[in-house]
Amino acid sequence: MFSLQQKEYFKSLETPFYYYDLELLKNTLLAVKQAAGSAYHVHYALKANAHPTLLAPIVEAGLGADCVSGNEVKRALECGFTHEKIVFAGVGKSDKEIAYALDHDIFCFNVESIPELEVIDLIAASKNKKAHIALRINPNVDAHTHKYITTGLEENKFGINPYEFDQVLDKLGSLKNCRLIGLHFHIGSQIQDLNAFKNLCLRVNEINQWFIHKGYLLDHINLGGGLGINYQEPDTAAIVDFESYFSIFRNFLQLPLQQQVHFELGRSISAQCGSLISRVLYIKHGINTHFAILDAGMTELIRPALYQAYHKIENISQSDSSLTMRYDVVGPICESSDCFGKAVELPETKRGDLIAIRSAGAYGEVMSNRYNLREGVQSVF
Ligand code: LLP
Repeated sequence: MFSLQQKEYFKSLETPFYYYDLELLKNTLLAVKQAAGSAYHVHYALKANAHPTLLAPIVEAGLGADCVSGNEVKRALECGFTHEKIVFAGVGKSDKEIAYALDHDIFCFNVESIPELEVIDLIAASKNKKAHIALRINPNVDAHTHKYITTGLEENKFGINPYEFDQVLDKLGSLKNCRLIGLHFHIGSQIQDLNAFKNLCLRVNEINQWFIHKGYLLDHINLGGGLGINYQEPDTAAIVDFESYFSIFRNFLQLPLQQQVHFELGRSISAQCGSLISRVLYIKHGINTHFAILDAGMTELIRPALYQAYHKIENISQSDSSLTMRYDVVGPICESSDCFGKAVELPETKRGDLIAIRSAGAYGEVMSNRYNLREGVQSVF
């Protein structure tokens, strides 16, 4: 929901742009900190949104950083995350990225395969360093989410499978420059059925016990991220129910007291504070449809085209909703998938109206691109 003042301000700006509500972000951070308590360590997944202005309050709230590229590690350091709170994950870390992370003594590499372990060991040896390693494990737990954002099934490319554990431990025994300090899990994103996290806990308990029996009582267990948000109700459900989320882990995770518990939340922290604001360029009347053609497209927000994702669409220039019409809300890009929503009910909409596409603070601006030589998108706070 936008105030009159905000709407006036938006009118004066060139579109499209991302608008971020920093107040909401700060309140979300308070909620996550309170629900996590002192026992749980939360890292923010920079992949969701790595804008320095958003990272500042996240650093201030004391969260760690979950990075998936050398540039994200660099951004995290530049924005004030301390090196001992940075984890580096990803199936395809390059030698250069590994070297950079080692040079900056990050907390931990979440390692996804034996060949990666060997490379990290080699690079660490060349620098006379010991890399801290957590094994990313594929727990084969179904996250019941979109197939493109489910990661914890055997068929996915992510993580090490249980049948490889013995081999990995043998390998680690021979590597002098890697120290195993944790286990890492992540089963997917936009998970709304909390039962998936309960199933994850039960698998983690078993797998952790297996490692303990082998003599590896590891310092930390990282449960990844994935908590979903309510895209239908960006105002009434602006802050995710973090209490219910963490209580699943309190109830079902059974770890020895000395093991630290880590999380990597992205979407649930930054999604609701961002909206993509654009202008209607044209209203075009088709045979059975009216098209509202915006000056923002899949280049600015690709989620609807890529995952058939729903984002609430609002006309914030028209307050009289007594007369509504259905519009296919589309962008200007030369692709039929460049559509934000079909048959969207809006007040009668005109050229020049401002349209807000809500819940776009995570995986929005970071996934934008310059296809069609588009201008690139601005951020407004
Ligand atoms: N940890 C790992 C290892 C991950 O792969 C991810 C997200 C996260 C943490 C953070 O997950 P979150 O709390 O944000 O769900 N572009 C897609 C989402 C891709 C998620 C990739 N991994 C989308 O727009 O829905």
